[in-house]
Amino acid sequence: MFAVALEVSCGLSTTAEITRCVEIVRDSLNTAKPFIEALLGAAGLGTFAVVSILLWMVKRLKRDVEGQQEQCKTLQSELIDARSGRDDALSRMRTAEKLVEIISERLRSATEPLDKALREAQARIESLVKQLRAALDAGSGDSAAFWSRGPGPMPDNYQVRIRDSKPILLFANQKGGVGKTTLSANIAAAFADRGERVLVVDLDYQGSLTSLMLAQSKVQLGAFPSAVDQLMGDELAAGWSKLAIEKLSDRLHYISCWYSFEKLERNLEYRWVLNDTRDDIRFRLSRALLSQDVQDNYDRVIIDAPPRMTTGFLNGVCSATHLFVPTVVDSVSAVAVGTFARQFREIRSVLNPQIEFAGIIGTMTTLLNGGGPFTLPRNAEAAAVRAEAVVRKVLNSNADYFVRGAVMARTTKVSYSAEDGIAYLQASETRPMFNALADQIATRAPLRN
Ligand SMILES: Nc1ncnc2c1ncn2[C@@H]1O[C@H](COP(=O)(O)OP(=O)(O)OP(=O)(O)O)[C@@H](O)[C@H]1O
Ligand SMILES: [Mg+2]
Repeated sequence: MFAVALEVSCGLSTTAEITRCVEIVRDSLNTAKPFIEALLGAAGLGTFAVVSILLWMVKRLKRDVEGQQEQCKTLQSELIDARSGRDDALSRMRTAEKLVEIISERLRSATEPLDKALREAQARIESLVKQLRAALDAGSGDSAAFWSRGPGPMPDNYQVRIRDSKPILLFANQKGGVGKTTLSANIAAAFADRGERVLVVDLDYQGSLTSLMLAQSKVQLGAFPSAVDQLMGDELAAGWSKLAIEKLSDRLHYISCWYSFEKLERNLEYRWVLNDTRDDIRFRLSRALLSQDVQDNYDRVIIDAPPRMTTGFLNGVCSATHLFVPTVVDSVSAVAVGTFARQFREIRSVLNPQIEFAGIIGTMTTLLNGGGPFTLPRNAEAAAVRAEAVVRKVLNSNADYFVRGAVMARTTKVSYSAEDGIAYLQASETRPMFNALADQIATRAPLRN
């Protein structure tokens, strides 16, 4: 009854709230009981007064409860806000975690190629250091040691091709100005004159032989004066012969050389030292000279070597079947022949054991009795003997290395013609001399079918 009354009068809604109210009222009544009894006793007031006081107290309590309800609502709303803040923070945290995962994944996929590139770069650096060390080692010896390092991949069937090749004569001597070029051009003309199909190859970028050929054919330098460059590329182009070979006459053809060849030679040399070529650059010329094309179309090839050990020179050694060493017949030149023979032996043993040291040819001297037994002036004879002796010793052979019976005598006819062309073709009086030399050479390097 009392509870119902409270509910009606206070507007309390829940049983818990009412129970709480009743407890507060009871506690309050217990507290106030002595005072009330005293007051009732003192004032003599009746039940009405008690009820009125009680109603007043209940109203007060209701206000307190409402105040607490308000606080409760505020707290609830704050709690809801806090919860939503927490959920928001959690969701942001999850988003952040996802982002971190994505970024980590991207970092991983970005760093993987970088790591790989770094590893590759390190390997490349190591290999470059190795190459540089090898280059330094290679450069520590003399030219012959440098150039006679072990052969790399040779052209297909190189050994068989050079064994079966038409004679390919290399006119070489490290000593300059001894008549290599003059001899090459005139001997070529002599062989062509006797019906051989001759190809002459200039390997000296100074182009002395090319100049002789141009002077002889009365043409100027073309757009590509160094045709030999085309034979030295990484690949030998199909149809190279049509582009590289010039025709002086029906039977006398040549491959020119000019200053661009120097750059090409050096470039190839550096690449070779750094192991930057798939093939062995020393055999590049042989691809052309031992090709079927040349073997079918020529009876003899003559190579004019430069007076220095260059890429071109080495290509000459690796392409030739016979070496002839022109030399001035004096004592200084005889020593130079010995030095050259030693270098040649070293290179030959590694690169082209089939090339034959076929002869030493005297130049710029005279025969005392041309036509008769071979007689050189006394000093020249001593130099010839000395040159031959040293070559015999170097090559461990007693062969007759010095070409007897013919020399390239010193004559203005020969030197004069250098300006205008090939002496053999310009000055007929030089022909017997060159023909005699051609006979000697042909004996030592006979034609092949
Ligand atoms: N028999 C000769 N009589 C006179 N002069 C000659 C004779 N042979 C060559 N010469 C001259 O000697 C010079 C050198 O000759 P050549 O160029 O043939 O020598 P080289 O050995 O090829 O020289 P390099 O080492 O520079 O290649 C040229 O001026 C040439 O005309
Ligand atoms: Mg020369």
